[in-house]
Parts: sequence; C-alpha cells; structure tokens
Amino acid sequence: MGKKLKIYLLIIYLISLLFLLILFPEFIHESRYSHVIFLFIVTFLMNNFSIFFNYITRIKTSMTIPVLISAFYFINPLWVGIVTALGTITFKEEIKYFVWYKFLFNRSSIFLASVSGALVFNLSRSVLDGNTFPILSALMASIVYFIINNFLVYIVINLADNDVNQMSLISYFRELSKNLITSYFIGLILLASYINFGKSLFVLVIILLFIIKDFFYSRLQQMNSYTQIIESFLKVIDSKDHYTEGHCERVANYTYHLCNEMNLSRAKSEKIISIAKIHDIGKIYVDDDILRSSDKLSEQEYKEIKRHTEYGYQLLKDIDLINDELDIILYHHERWDGRGYPEGLKGEKIPVGARILTACDSLDVMITGRTYKPPMTKEEIIAEFKKCSGGQFDPEIARKMIQLIKDGYFDDKFKSEEKIRELELSLEY
Ligand SMILES: [Fe+2]
Ligand SMILES: [Fe+2]
Repeated sequence: MGKKLKIYLLIIYLISLLFLLILFPEFIHESRYSHVIFLFIVTFLMNNFSIFFNYITRIKTSMTIPVLISAFYFINPLWVGIVTALGTITFKEEIKYFVWYKFLFNRSSIFLASVSGALVFNLSRSVLDGNTFPILSALMASIVYFIINNFLVYIVINLADNDVNQMSLISYFRELSKNLITSYFIGLILLASYINFGKSLFVLVIILLFIIKDFFYSRLQQMNSYTQIIESFLKVIDSKDHYTEGHCERVANYTYHLCNEMNLSRAKSEKIISIAKIHDIGKIYVDDDILRSSDKLSEQEYKEIKRHTEYGYQLLKDIDLINDELDIILYHHERWDGRGYPEGLKGEKIPVGARILTACDSLDVMITGRTYKPPMTKEEIIAEFKKCSGGQFDPEIARKMIQLIKDGYFDDKFKSEEKIRELELSLEY
C-alpha cells in the first residue's frame, strides 16, 4: 500500500472518530429504539440480498439510500450513521475476504456520508419542507450521502491504482447516479408507507419490490443466457478469423459509451448494446476460406461477406426476446449517404441503433487494423471520423464519437505510434 493511501485512510478514520465524539451526546438521547432496530435489520437484509442488477454494466443497485431516507426521518444523525455503517456490512464480500483496513474504510466512509446526509436533512427540513412530507430535504440528504460516499471511494481507487482509466471511472459513477434517482423515489414510497401505515406496510412494499425484481430479473436472465449462447457462436467466428478476435465484445463496449451520449431510453440503449455483442453473427454462414483470406477478395467473395447482415437477421428474427431491435444487425453496414448495403438506406431512414453500431464497428476496425491495413493512431482516427461525417457516418454521431475519443474514453485501446510501425512491418502485402 502506498504512503499517500495510508495517510488518506488514517485521515478518514480520524474524521469518523471525531464525528463520533462530537455527536456522542445523541447516543444516549435516542429514544426511538424500535425504529433503530427495525431500520438496522432492513438495511442489513437489503444489502446482503442485492435487489436490482444491471448485467451489462455489472452494477448492482444498493438499497441503502431508500432505507436511509426513512432513517433520516425517524432517528437522530449519530444513529443514522451507526445503523447505516453497520447495516451495510456484506457477508459475501467483506466478511469472507476480510481485510481490516478495507473493512474499516467502508464503515468510516458510509458513516461519514450518512451522518452528513442526516445533518443536511435536519437542517434543510424546516427551511425546505416545513411540516409537510420531506420531498426536498430527502433529496438534498440523498445527494449529500451519494456524493460524499462516492467521492471518498473515488479517491481510494485513484490512490490505490495509478493506471485506472479516468473516463471509465466517470462513466461508472454516472451509471451509479442513475441509480440514485431510482433509489430516491423508492425511498420516498417507503417513507410514506412507514409514516402513514407503520412498519408492516414498509415491509410489504419491500416484498413487493422483490417480486417486481424477480419478474424483471428473470426476463433479463433469459436475455442474458440467450446472449451467452450467441456469444459462444461468436467465439467460433473469432477462432476462424484471427483479425476479428474479440471484435464484437469491444464494439459492444464502445456502443455503451456512445449510447450514453445519445438521448435514448435506458431500455433502448441496453438492447442496442446487447445486439452489438452479436452483430456479426451472420458470419458463421460465410465460407471459412473467404473469412480467413488475407488476399484481395474477388467481387463474388466480397458479395458473400456482405451477406452476413442478412444471414444474421434471418437467423435471429424468429426469437421474440430480441427481435424488436434486430434491424440493427440487418442495417449495420448502411451508410448515411445511402451508399451502404444491403438496401442502400439513407440518413435517418437507417435505425439509430444501426447508425451507432456503424460508428463503433468502424472505430474497432481503425483501432485494431485488418490484414490489408495497419491500425491507426488516435489523431488519425479523429481525422477519419471528421472526413467520413455525413458520408459513412451520421454527422451527429460522428461528432459525439470524436468528442468521446478526445475526452479519452478509449485511450487504453489505442496503439502507440511505434507499435503500429511494428505491426506495419509484419504485415504482408
Ligand atoms: Fe459486420
Ligand atoms: Fe463488425
């Protein structure tokens, strides 16, 4: 562990201790112990049985904030801190792989964040909400909790790992912040049930959430296992065609970032991303020799390769689970100027998912190179997207892609100038 990290951890432990001492009088003055015990049990159970899980981003929505909002309302700040810090101990991760300083850091950061949230809640309540239902103060307090907790964790990640990709961290936190909105509304519903109908309705609402979760989760599971089957097909293609190894997986990753920049619903984005993972599935019908060939293809062979879009579409179109966005596969080689294939669609006639995929597909080709051309540098790729904007690419999408590249989202993927020269030398023409 680095020296800076050690000092940082020590500071966090000390500040937590300081808060604990300052707020200590509250320890004795809390009389609502039934709320304390109840909220502790709920926090603990909710954290050890994760409720919503996004299988693409691998982020699980913790139920800490929804329960925390009720804690802000019913118990004093010190106890909010204690309940949350201890209630969020997870057996699967923290106890099984116990590392004392990590454990202590998690408790301290959650303690500091929740105590600060509670103090903000109490301060802003009389100003913002008066005696009415605390819609605004709960929002303020949740945001404070969210920012402090994530900020403290963000610093730890940075101190612990110098090579961490800043941009992927930012998109990770952005994904988390979407969860904050969901958590806030669930929290308000829980609080309203608690205030008006007591603990029993609170528990019933949570049970309802679990039922809803199972309903959606099983759909996601279906979709997930389906994608897994397709992915194994893709491994077959990868093994046939050395140059495209991991291509679909990488394209799906770029698609994720680009979808985040577009004004698309979350459901639509997730569909586009999962289709991106399997976009070249039609290649399993294309002859091995053509796929593997490093010579210049004949017109007939090129025609055959082009058919992979239709093959893929035909293969999957009867499967209900994914067929509503399938035209992405069919049209992922269309061009904005209408010179693409298979139908020569033009401009916005091409589904937005297909336009996004085209850009990401090309980005991967530029980054990794092909038998007939070496990879490109970051600057060359930016220039290429500028040049092809309005030609191959939707201008709006090209602009967003350039911005993502400039912002460093794909920095870990680009090859250095020297590396490219090396590859160029080893290419056979
Ligand atoms: Fe393709
Ligand atoms: Fe592709």
